Amino acid sequence: MIILSIETSCDETAVAVVEMNGSFPDATYTILGNGLITQIEMHREFGGVVPNIAKREHAKALVPMLIQALQEAGMLKKRESTLNIEALSFMNELFVREPGLADTLTAFFASYEFPKIDTIAVTSGPGLEPALWVGINFARALGQVLDKNVIPTNHMEGHILASLFKDSRLAPVSFPALALLISGGHTELVLMKDWGVYEKIGQTRDDAVGEAFDKVARMMGLPYPGGPEISKIAVTAREQNLPMYGTQLPRPMLQSGDHDFSFSGLKTSVRTRVLDKELTIDEKSRIARDFEDCVAEVLMKKTFNAAEIFGVHTIILGGGVTANNTIRANFTEKAAGYQAMNLYLPDRELSTDNAIMIALAGTAHLAQKATQDAEIKADGNLALA
Ligand code: KG4
Ligand code: ZN
Repeated sequence: MIILSIETSCDETAVAVVEMNGSFPDATYTILGNGLITQIEMHREFGGVVPNIAKREHAKALVPMLIQALQEAGMLKKRESTLNIEALSFMNELFVREPGLADTLTAFFASYEFPKIDTIAVTSGPGLEPALWVGINFARALGQVLDKNVIPTNHMEGHILASLFKDSRLAPVSFPALALLISGGHTELVLMKDWGVYEKIGQTRDDAVGEAFDKVARMMGLPYPGGPEISKIAVTAREQNLPMYGTQLPRPMLQSGDHDFSFSGLKTSVRTRVLDKELTIDEKSRIARDFEDCVAEVLMKKTFNAAEIFGVHTIILGGGVTANNTIRANFTEKAAGYQAMNLYLPDRELSTDNAIMIALAGTAHLAQKATQDAEIKADGNLALA
């Protein structure tokens, strides 16, 4: 079975072609093509993702990413038969809010043979709704023209499955497993009781972790997205073992008695260290290192505490913040101290948003949710389960 998958929930436009052999969760997968472009440069000057710019850029990039994915897959064939363009005129109405997309997709179909795919998976949430809609409408158009089902897919489930994706297949999981999802918009602990069965047991009460990284970076005059920038400048303080800057930062929520997080107080503590000061590069490096250590420790302690309470032997980290080396190292070291604790981190190229994870998540719902498109709606707050 060949899945075409589409991701446009935030600031990456991604299309993948993935072949699945066998049935979920025991299938093997082959990544045939992977088109991905990030819009980060477009949003940088605004210090964050601007929904309308994201939407416009997705509309521009989707056909090129489709072509790239199909080309890599060896599935891009020049059209030899003639095409009834009339039959595509429905796209003018479908893409009424995505100017240009009806024309570029029509031109695509006029130039190339219909790709031989079996189903389409698209992110329907969570994310920025204007951005999600572009991908959904694109998937609906492809579904209608190719006469294939469109599977609405949860972005966070995609992150979970991306972490489990090792050696062309999903790692076997002993349930219940615990997933820590950390991205620009999410920080949550989710108990995974079975494939596709989730219960959220904790979440941030204010900022998401990625958001805290981004805001702290901004305070120190570093560009968006701040996570990688904080990590980069923290290296000096870490390697030279420079002293803490000021007193130790607070470890929020460690004693809260539940599985929730909070990062806004921590952010405020950093602000008092930064505000109205001309910081040297070394001072910034120390603050970045202290902040990173603090976040890593809180995430690690709360996660392993919940794992013990729920009798979990599998921890899965998902979302863009899992690219962070300090967080990866903290979790790896802690898991190694247990008799039996399997820790899954996504491979680096799968840690930030991509369409491969959406193909994986789509295959989890081939039977249940496959639908002939019309019902699919963008849901910015779509929950797992
Ligand atoms: O999952 P993702 O790509 O997009 C969302 O769904 O939000 O996550 C993006 C977030 C941003 O906040 C970014 O600053 C953060 O992940 N991030 C990092 C690192 N790389 C990306 N945070 C900390 N350390 C990193 N190395
Ligand atoms: Zn994400």
